[in-house]
Amino acid sequence: MTYIPSATRYQNMPYRRCGKSGILLPAISLGLWHNFGGVDVFENYRKILHLAFDSGITHFDLANNYGPPYGSAEENFGQLLKKDFSAYRDELIISSKAGYDMWPGPYGNWGSKKYLVASLDQSLKRMGLDYVDIFYHHRPDPETPLEETMSALDLIVRQGKALYVGISNYKADEAKKAINILKELGTPCLIHQPKYSMFERWVEGGLLDVLEEEGVGCIPFSPLAQGLLTNKYLNGIPQDSRAAKTTGHLQTSQITEQNIAQVKQLNDLAVQRNQTLAQMALAWLMKDPRVTSVLIGASKPEQLADSLKCLENTSFTADELTQIENILQNKP
Ligand SMILES: NC(=O)c1ccc[n+]([C@@H]2O[C@H](COP(=O)([O-])OP(=O)(O)OC[C@H]3O[C@@H](n4cnc5c(N)ncnc54)[C@H](OP(=O)(O)O)[C@@H]3O)[C@@H](O)[C@H]2O)c1
Repeated sequence: MTYIPSATRYQNMPYRRCGKSGILLPAISLGLWHNFGGVDVFENYRKILHLAFDSGITHFDLANNYGPPYGSAEENFGQLLKKDFSAYRDELIISSKAGYDMWPGPYGNWGSKKYLVASLDQSLKRMGLDYVDIFYHHRPDPETPLEETMSALDLIVRQGKALYVGISNYKADEAKKAINILKELGTPCLIHQPKYSMFERWVEGGLLDVLEEEGVGCIPFSPLAQGLLTNKYLNGIPQDSRAAKTTGHLQTSQITEQNIAQVKQLNDLAVQRNQTLAQMALAWLMKDPRVTSVLIGASKPEQLADSLKCLENTSFTADELTQIENILQNKP
């Protein structure tokens, strides 16, 4: 089957400027952490990618170790790029990262120049690309001097292996330092990728302010708290869910009675807004103009279709926002 993208793919997706840069990102981007690895079904993830691009999602987020096994999401994505998207490379923003465990020994983890440069070379080979659009340092490294890690990002851009660079999981003060070093090196930091959802709000305590001041974009990951902020766990743990899968990173211990009590109340509010809870949780993140794009996952095309419909209602009344705060803070 030859894939022909929808001619109307740019009609319904809003594109938001990434900090003070020339790059516009779709309000919703798709991540390939789960569901695109060697353990997953080709025809299923192929359909997800087709639907994403047909719906105006131009940004796909990967990392060296996405799978399992490590590297397999990049390999699978590379195959599909070649098969279905080779004519559309210039319509895509493809990102990868290094910073977590990837290969054995002292050079396959954390933040040395040795690791980052070698890892991106491997990622490019797996995806069959000459360059990625964004390359991230995946998490701060307490042992490696920040200057070394940032100069590795700068080098990678100067080598033409990435067009832009970003950081992920850096706290506000670490992010500020990294952003300033990159500025001095002449390779501005494009974007920060933090975990942010209704259930995980540490970024509101300073990071979002730093990013705004510095003109850096923000792309929250796990905006649905890996599926918790949807209607899927309301009545137990479905067999095909991330929490039930041995390869999933959502632990059953994270699905607590207290969480589910909040999820039920949030779900009731979403229904009143004529939305699913997933749609409301995504719209809630988009209300902040400092959020450039929301980085979702999906295990089925139907989930992606559902999540995309959040774009139909992204505004909240003051009363709805208060109700959400009260639920999240367990106020009666
Ligand atoms: N920088 C980092 O350190 C870091 C860390 C983690 C993730 N990320 C990035 O962020 C991306 C997204 O993370 P995530 O997958 O955890 O995001 P998420 O959107 O919070 O969770 C996705 C999961 O939620 C469920 N889901 C999605 N849409 C749904 C819907 N409409 N209705 C019901 N259930 C729905 C599915 O779970 P089931 O599988 O149970 O169906 C899906 O796999 C990753 O792919 C990766 O690119 C980055």
